Amino acid sequence: MENKTARESVIYQIYPPSFMDSNNDGWGDLNGIASRIPYLHQLGIDTIWLGPIYDSPMIDNGYDIRDYYQIDTKYGTMEQFESLLDQLHDIDMKLIMDLVINHTSDEHPWFQQSKSAKDNPYRDYYIWRPAKSDGAEPNNWRSFQSESAWTYDEQTDEYYLHLFDRKQPDLNWEHPPLRQEVYKMIRWWLDKGIDGFRLDAINMISKHPDLPDAAEDDPHPIGQRFYKNGPRIHEFLQELHRETFAHYPHILTIGEAPSLTMEQVLEYTLPERKELNMVLAMDMMRIGKDPHNPWGSADWSVSQLKESVSKWYEHIFARGEYGVYLSTHDHPRMIPDVIGHHEHNMTAAKLVATFLHLIPGVPLVYQGEELGLPNTTYDRIEDYRDQGTIHYYKEAVQDGKPAQEVLAGIHQRSRDGSRSPMPWDAHSENFGFSPSDSTKPWIPFPDKESLTHLSVSEQEEQRGSVLSYYRHLIAMRKQFPIMSHGSFTMLLEDHPEVFAFIREWQGQRWLILLNFADVEAEIDWTQEYRVFPTSMVKILGNYPHTAHPPHPEEEQHIDDLQYLRPYEVLIYRM
Ligand code: BGC
Repeated sequence: MENKTARESVIYQIYPPSFMDSNNDGWGDLNGIASRIPYLHQLGIDTIWLGPIYDSPMIDNGYDIRDYYQIDTKYGTMEQFESLLDQLHDIDMKLIMDLVINHTSDEHPWFQQSKSAKDNPYRDYYIWRPAKSDGAEPNNWRSFQSESAWTYDEQTDEYYLHLFDRKQPDLNWEHPPLRQEVYKMIRWWLDKGIDGFRLDAINMISKHPDLPDAAEDDPHPIGQRFYKNGPRIHEFLQELHRETFAHYPHILTIGEAPSLTMEQVLEYTLPERKELNMVLAMDMMRIGKDPHNPWGSADWSVSQLKESVSKWYEHIFARGEYGVYLSTHDHPRMIPDVIGHHEHNMTAAKLVATFLHLIPGVPLVYQGEELGLPNTTYDRIEDYRDQGTIHYYKEAVQDGKPAQEVLAGIHQRSRDGSRSPMPWDAHSENFGFSPSDSTKPWIPFPDKESLTHLSVSEQEEQRGSVLSYYRHLIAMRKQFPIMSHGSFTMLLEDHPEVFAFIREWQGQRWLILLNFADVEAEIDWTQEYRVFPTSMVKILGNYPHTAHPPHPEEEQHIDDLQYLRPYEVLIYRM
């Protein structure tokens, strides 16, 4: 995809199990997605990132693939997929698929073969090692599920490596026949006309060849320095590009590659290196999280956001692309972190939206974010579905931690927090997610009362809803290239609550002010006068009856702007 187009897009992430169920089995599906195309069209997005829909035992909702060439029957059929793709293309919307090639399901035929005998031709498709001479596991790496990254298999008396769940064995990229199989599969999908891929955990495919033990003080998860950005990663990605992407010049490839330095981002994304079009800027997702404990939280501050936005802008913007996002299916939603008080929920959701669409980078909107959905918390562990969450709960309670305390951590960190179904229609039992009121969705809706006014049907009716604000922002992005291409200058750098910046492009200048606090913030402009003209005109705000200025086109002077109200957003043309 040409960089100009990529940079101007807005990408919308669909998490398929929770988007729309058309056949009343409580699980989202392809026909459900197709039925909501008008909604997506009206939202104004350009590209859908569709979570994995391949045949899978679903222990990780499809990130455990059993057959790359089949659509899982829970989602529908290949014909339905092709029809969805055609319908999207008819309205110029693109579809990119999730590409999970660091691992497969343990039910994939390759793994079934691989585990059957040491001399099986598929043995080296995965990473097998014997126990150490003292009987210990091959090394001390821990998986993202906070357990050993090795599982013993009696049949051949060896261990296989899995960085994620034990049912997700890692593929062995050192083995050329495996790589060729993967390339063949990728070309097969691209030949169908899909528009690209989001590449799952892509910076983990090259492991240190010796698989060395990690130091005990290695940050969570132990061992990552030996499997993230490994020694052959760029060789593998360049080969992947050569064998597949290079033949489909208009596609978009987005890498999920956690913990990259800015130099490494460039290695993955510089166009002349022919690897990926962009990577996701993941550090904002980590704000508020304890880096050493997957279930621990940390205080966060606006200065961390400022640091992250500036860092990506300064190092990457002029040279390559990156995606920015604030919520996804892997993290609790950001809204509750930002929102302290219910009275300000909607205002704060609009602040989050403005931030995402106005900072440099390609915005990715995760389903439900456009409704201002809060994080979902359940009071009973039985309502959680994520294996990692359930595993952690059992272990912690077994270790003697009070159940309520464990649940409190889960409320803040479980990825199920962002996975409850889309509330389409306030007037039906299942919010229209499943057509029949008697169907039970695969994961429960949170507190129904509070969800009612956030549903699509209610927001369609309300002027000034979060949904209409998102539509407006996305439309603005189409109308004003400054939002995609403009340069970025930070203002009020040391202000603890206000994120203020200027974007500038082809003679236009916009001032963007965001108050991340739930109280009024005072602004002192004395340090910043150098950048201001005498007057400016407001083009967007998130307060319905904003006092300044009374009329949108009325000119205003910077000196009039001494305060921002709680979670207030103001955008001015200067
Ligand atoms: C996906 C997760 C998944 C993991 C293993 C990721 O980063 O986004 O949902 O569990 O990869 O495939």
